[in-house]
Amino acid sequence: MSAKELTGEPPLHVGVIMDGNGRWAKKRGLPRTAGHSKGAKVFKSIVEDFRALGVKYVTFYAFSTENWKRPKEEVNALMELLDKYLDDIRSMAQKNTRVFFAGDKSAFSEDMQRRMTDIEQVSENNDGLYICVALNYGGRDEIVRAAKSIASKYSSALDTVGEEEFGRELYTCFMPDVDLIIRTGGEQRLSNFLIWQSAYAELYFTDVLWPDFNRKELAAALDWYSQRNRRFGGV
Ligand code: IPE
Ligand code: IPE
Ligand code: MG
Repeated sequence: MSAKELTGEPPLHVGVIMDGNGRWAKKRGLPRTAGHSKGAKVFKSIVEDFRALGVKYVTFYAFSTENWKRPKEEVNALMELLDKYLDDIRSMAQKNTRVFFAGDKSAFSEDMQRRMTDIEQVSENNDGLYICVALNYGGRDEIVRAAKSIASKYSSALDTVGEEEFGRELYTCFMPDVDLIIRTGGEQRLSNFLIWQSAYAELYFTDVLWPDFNRKELAAALDWYSQRNRRFGGV
């Protein structure tokens, strides 16, 4: 399946809520961390499927500002996995792909922060495919940060601030608003993901658990998207 085999135009920007790792592992009698390992492998391979299917911008929700509430062992395992996967993420930054992170990096180890910044720097002039990895990301946190930044930059000219200026303060300022959000794992909610950027997004929920997600499922989501009639408040 390639972009040509989709029934319509692919969305420009897709957000992916990669949910269901824990339940995937539980179904197999494995520890939750085994689900995260499998989920990380799926993340790595699905990037190439997005490229092949002609999507230009993809934001992956990998760890939320609320996920720190999980048991310490699970959080530690997720950090170890991330540490390991940063090298793979760096290799994605080749092939004319720009890779960057959305979220508060300061919660991660100094070594991880340095590697994340390095990935962003080496790929900043690439413009074929944009991959944004949301890590320690929360939509509300992002909006509060943007509001503070706006207040300090425009203190005497707040009247001039509109939606466009506000959007430029968000982590996702390099990308257009999200067109399609795909959430695996059966829940029908956004869980604090791209809450500003998804104002007019189409929402696709599937029961498939993230570790079982694949190119065929992705193509089904993109085909569903192409049937939607987007009006943006018009007629
Ligand atoms: C998503 O899978 C991965 C992260 C939030 C890090 P979950 O770990 O939430 O899996 P379920 O929802 O418990 O099955
Ligand atoms: C959303 O999944 C966060 C990520 C996929 C990173 P959660 O599993 O944390 O969301 P809730 O708790 O079910 O809303
Ligand atoms: Mg979950």
